[in-house]
Formats: sequence, structure tokens, C-alpha cells
Amino acid sequence: MQNDAAGKLAIDGGKKTRTEPWPARRLFSEEEKAAAAALFDEAIESGGVFAYGGAEEEAYCREFAEFMGGGYADAVNSGTSAVYVALRALDLEPFTEVIVPPVTDMGGVMPVPLLNCIPICADTAPGSYNCGPEQIEARITDRTSAILVAHIAGQPVDMDPILEMANARSIPVVEDCAQAHGATYKGRLVGTMGDTAAFSTMSGKHHATGGQGGVVFARDEALYWRARQASDRGKPFGIEGGAFNVLCGHNLNLNDLSAAIGRVQLRKLPENVAKCRRAALAIADRCETLQAVTVDRGLPETEGAFWFVVFRLDLDKLRGDVDTFVAAAQAEGLPFNARYTRPFTDHDWFKNRAVFGTSGYPWTCPLYKGDPDQVYPLPNMEAAHASLFMLKVHENVTGKEADDAFAALRKVERAYLK
Ligand SMILES: Cc1ncc(COP(=O)(O)O)c(C=O)c1O
Repeated sequence: MQNDAAGKLAIDGGKKTRTEPWPARRLFSEEEKAAAAALFDEAIESGGVFAYGGAEEEAYCREFAEFMGGGYADAVNSGTSAVYVALRALDLEPFTEVIVPPVTDMGGVMPVPLLNCIPICADTAPGSYNCGPEQIEARITDRTSAILVAHIAGQPVDMDPILEMANARSIPVVEDCAQAHGATYKGRLVGTMGDTAAFSTMSGKHHATGGQGGVVFARDEALYWRARQASDRGKPFGIEGGAFNVLCGHNLNLNDLSAAIGRVQLRKLPENVAKCRRAALAIADRCETLQAVTVDRGLPETEGAFWFVVFRLDLDKLRGDVDTFVAAAQAEGLPFNARYTRPFTDHDWFKNRAVFGTSGYPWTCPLYKGDPDQVYPLPNMEAAHASLFMLKVHENVTGKEADDAFAALRKVERAYLK
């Protein structure tokens, strides 16, 4: 007798593969609460306040840099701010071009036009949400002032050829590590390879400074001081005897309360990343026997941080498209998603050039010497959107969830195989 859980799809009225909810993440514990409470206790007892740039924030930045194996960290108030500051530290000339990935959070792109630079969209590498070296190289012009790479889903981008190409042209590289805390590429932590790096520490990430936050990281001390200036109204950090503010800038600082939470979280980070990796690879191992679904384990010599797991469908072997497949897999009781975000070029803000009033700047400024209306084809990205889907994993996703994910995919695959 055929069991419903293995036979008739839930989307067609059959029994669901999984009825329990996906496990809760439980990112925060009594430890973070105690760290935050200690700051309040101290303030109440002394009659003082906690603020920003104090002992907690200093310690968090030092400990973050230690985690990165040395270098300098500046804690800021979001990942978007971190990308902004990481770019701003490079002193990019306005109306130059910054090569950016198409598939990323808007906060990983919007800082570019906010700096009056032009975001130039590279295609992704075939079968991936990440950009590859060839796709980036195809967008380099004599106007390129920086390359921004994002390690999407916690999967490291193929950095060596990108760095080689960028170094040969003296173009700085910024790594957006918002989704990739603790991921490694050929033994090197992501964020340590580019000139500057940006991390998001909002509460969905591998380690968090509370609800929001971010970190700018640089190995070079001069870039670090420039980042500090850029994130705090141009105060003359790193300038001996400096008395006056040296840049016009925002106040994008983190604060001591968030940093106190971040310090506890940082201690948990290696284990959190290891657990995400274990969960993702457990799913990948189980899916080895599937015929039309493969799991992206990342490039060779990388260890991904697996902010989410990316699955590829071989649509030649299946009836229906990725939406049909994922809708059926979701109905089995698992939180699969058909795709990660559409490229920023599809979004209204980009299409309407909604950056500086109605000016259309930076694209329409006569100082921009490129073609403001250039449309960049993204065939690999479109193919990826047509065949990739995802599953969010975290520290509490275990063998049981891997079993269920596999069982749901096997059941749906059987139903849709040609
Ligand atoms: C790749 C990437 N860059 C930048 C950001 C922006 O970070 P935040 O939400 O902390 O501003 C995110 C957020 O998810 C992201 O995933």
C-alpha cells in the first residue's frame, strides 16, 4: 500500500511530509540579556549613561578583528551602513563606476549611487547567485573605481582571479560578507581578501549585535581610520593633533549596548557557523541520490557559511518549472523558497533613479562619461532564477530537518520526473 507521505503530493491533497514547524533559531539567550542588563545596572548605579564608542564597543571591535585574524574593525549601525562606509573609505571619485552583483540585498547596492557613483551590474557565474571573475571583468572600463563582491548565501565568491584582475588594474575590491560570517576561501576568511569588507549584524545573520548593526573591516590601518572618519561625521580619527572634522559624513556609529550583545554573539559565532554548515551538508548528503535536484556545496576549497542552502533543478528531467516544484515542496511542510531576490535593476528605485530628488543623478550628471541608459544583459542570472531555489538553515536545523527536506524533495521529484 502506498503511504500518502511518500506518494500523493500534499499540494494534491495528500499527507504532508512534515507537520512540525521549522525549528526556532534561539539566537539570543540569557547571556546576551545579562550583558545588556549589566550596562543598565552600571548606568543606574553610577547615575551615568552608556553611549557609543565606549569600552564595550572598543572591545567588540577588537574581538571582531581578532576573529578575522588581525586587522581593524569599525562597528556601525547596519550592514547597509557598513557597505557605504567600506566604499567611502576608498575615497571614490563621484561619477565613476562600481561593479556590483545583481542578486543581493538592496543595502548591498544602494550605497553606490548614494556616493554619487554608478552601480554597474555584473552577471552571475553560470548556475550561481554569485558573480564570477569573467562576468566582473566584462564590466570593467576605464571608469571603474571599485569592485564590490557579495558572498551570497554564505558561499565564497571565487576571489583569487578577481583579486588578480583588480590588482593588475589597481582597482580596489570590497567584500560584502553580510551573509557569510566565518566562511572561508582557500583557507582565508571572507572579508580578509579585499581592501575593505562589510558585515551585517542584524538579527537574521550568523552573529548579531541586536536588531541591527554592521561592521566594516580592513587589514590596512589607514583604510580603517578613513572608515572611522566616514562613519562618524568626519571626526579626525587617526590624525595626530587633528582638531577639526575632516569629512562631511553621516553618524553611522553602533553603540555600547549593541556591542555588548555583539561580544557575546561573537563568542558563539564559530559554533553557529559550524552548525549551519553541518545542517546544509547533511541536506546535501541526503540529496545525493536525487536525479533532478542538486545542492550547491560551494566552490572547491571553500567552506561556506550557508546562510541559506541553494538547490539546482535539472528542468530537462522534470515536468513544470521551478515555481511548480517549489510550491509542491512547500506544501509538504518545509520552508523552501522559489528564489532569492530579483536583481536590483528590476526595482523601482533603480528604474526611476530615485536617489537625489528628480535629478536622475548620479546617472544623468554630465560629469558621468559612460552611457547612463546602458542596459546590461544578465543571462546567467536569469537562468539561475529559473532553476535555483533555496531553504533557510540555521543553528537548530538538524538531521531531522535534513531527513524531512530530503523526503519532501524526493516525493516531489518522483511526482514530476518525466
Ligand atoms: C548581501 C547583503 N548586503 C547588505 C545587506 C544589508 O544589511 P542590513 O540589512 O544590515 O542593512 C544585506 C542584508 O541582508 C545583505 O544580505
